[in-house]
Amino acid sequence: MKRVVSGIQPTGSLTLGNYLGAIRNWIAFLHTHECLFFMADLHSWTVLQDPAKLAEQCRLVAAAYIASGIDPTVSSIFMQSHVAGHSELAWLLNCITPLGWLNRMTQFKDKAGKDKEKANLGLYAYPVLMAADILLYKATHVPVGDDQKQHLELTRDIAGAFNQTFGETFILPEPMILGQATRVMSLRDGTAKMSKSDPSDLSRINLMDDADTIIKKIKKAKSDAFPLPGNSDDLADRPEAKNLLNIYSVFADKPLLQCCLEFEGANFSALKEALADVLVTALTPIRTEMVRLMNEPHYLDKILAQGKDKALSIAAETLKEVHQKMGMLKV
Ligand code: TRP
Repeated sequence: MKRVVSGIQPTGSLTLGNYLGAIRNWIAFLHTHECLFFMADLHSWTVLQDPAKLAEQCRLVAAAYIASGIDPTVSSIFMQSHVAGHSELAWLLNCITPLGWLNRMTQFKDKAGKDKEKANLGLYAYPVLMAADILLYKATHVPVGDDQKQHLELTRDIAGAFNQTFGETFILPEPMILGQATRVMSLRDGTAKMSKSDPSDLSRINLMDDADTIIKKIKKAKSDAFPLPGNSDDLADRPEAKNLLNIYSVFADKPLLQCCLEFEGANFSALKEALADVLVTALTPIRTEMVRLMNEPHYLDKILAQGKDKALSIAAETLKEVHQKMGMLKV
């Protein structure tokens, strides 16, 4: 049985980066794999959240999944915190994960900043919770953006360590770093990842941005002083041109090289106009559907309740097996 598991943290607005790097790539699995997609709210607490906004943010991510084409009748969409097994398995995995492995995690180093003494324990243990998210369902495939590659390698190492200590239990999941332009960069700095936590809203396209906002942001996107090249090799040291052409290539559904030829010798304004055009065409229906779904919270919550039930039933099987292998007392 092939099973896909993936998730996104419900922090702030969803960006074009989440859409291209994650959600859009999940659709391909809907009819070939059993699919479980969740909102990683436990992970989001590694940074202080506003309790008054969290529920709405979680619904917004669920709405984005569905509006982007994740059909809830053939997949399970649920909240990570609704399945306590994530936390429980994370604890058990914590106990077999050497600190040395966690000390190698580059995302912790980036997020903890200079004063590591002040970083919270959750941020440090984040990758183990992610391993639990995946192993709890014995996922065979995990489609994520390339910034999560190291966490998936750790997941495989933890699964291997568990299997070696307690006998064959977990499947080593296959990471799938999918699709072209999976790494969408900031519109203000072609060398930084497009991020929902960047202080400048001009750095990103949000899935909830309306057409005028998208056009404005693309117009203001950083460019360089040279005409566009006719060859993708010449994009290597031109991060802004590369980023815009990459995004254009995905939405215009043409290979990158063809896009380079299309704009060879042109200045950025021609590319920006075409890019804004394809973006507005692709994102408007998603935004419209998200707005519609957000006005139907009962419908969304019903989907999340169904997703929860399905996830709970798979999780219960795994936990039972883990308890047994670890020799927990059964009464
Ligand atoms: N850490 C992931 C991210 O920030 C989100 C995530 C949490 C995840 N648990 C996961 C992704 C399990 C895939 C599988 O993008």
